[in-house]
Amino acid sequence: MWPFRKKPHLEPLSLDERDIHCHILPGVDDGFASAGASIDALRIMASKGIKEVVFTPHMNPDLYVGMTEADLRTAYSEFVKRLPQDIGIRTSLAAEYMIVKDFEQRAADPELLTYEDGSILIEMSYYYRSPNLEQTVFQLVMEGKKPILAHPERYSFMEDCLEDFDRLHEMGCRFQMNYLSQSGIYGPSSIKIMEYIRSHGWYSFHATDLHSIHQLEKILAIRVPAS
Ligand SMILES: [Fe+2]
Repeated sequence: MWPFRKKPHLEPLSLDERDIHCHILPGVDDGFASAGASIDALRIMASKGIKEVVFTPHMNPDLYVGMTEADLRTAYSEFVKRLPQDIGIRTSLAAEYMIVKDFEQRAADPELLTYEDGSILIEMSYYYRSPNLEQTVFQLVMEGKKPILAHPERYSFMEDCLEDFDRLHEMGCRFQMNYLSQSGIYGPSSIKIMEYIRSHGWYSFHATDLHSIHQLEKILAIRVPAS
């Protein structure tokens, strides 16, 4: 018998028409620094079939001291004025909220930058678990905010307590995978978590979490087995 298997046919990742997580709004966090680069990224995304992008700048009072939702709304309305008429992509503004101490106390705050359907994007540090993770999910759900946990596969400290994702799912938390995670660059812990959540069908969203054009090029270079 011929000992070698035929190599699987690889194809580019297919991107969802709606990107719910990116740092393209320029000059407000560790994402894009200039409006020109942001517009370039949006043009490339449009050319790849993306029709809608939700800007989700970091809201982390420990890192971006003094940044408010009002600041982000102002930055967004200024940026939108600079968008070319023919950009071919719909944009809106939400935010990515770090689950800092006492964040759950903001669950009812009308200032929170949610998606248009009331969902809200939350994240943790890559190095340690937010002690108030479950409390935050609980309070947001109680307020009808529909939490989405950004890139759970990047929280490597969760690899030995995968059943915690069961509980979060049961509580009404949804999960968003980063496209780049599928390239394996975040290591075996990330793959293990990603496969666990994927095997349960619990990824409701895939997103770029885009911080730069370079990252976009890396996403577009990913090849996966043909489906
Ligand atoms: Fe992000």
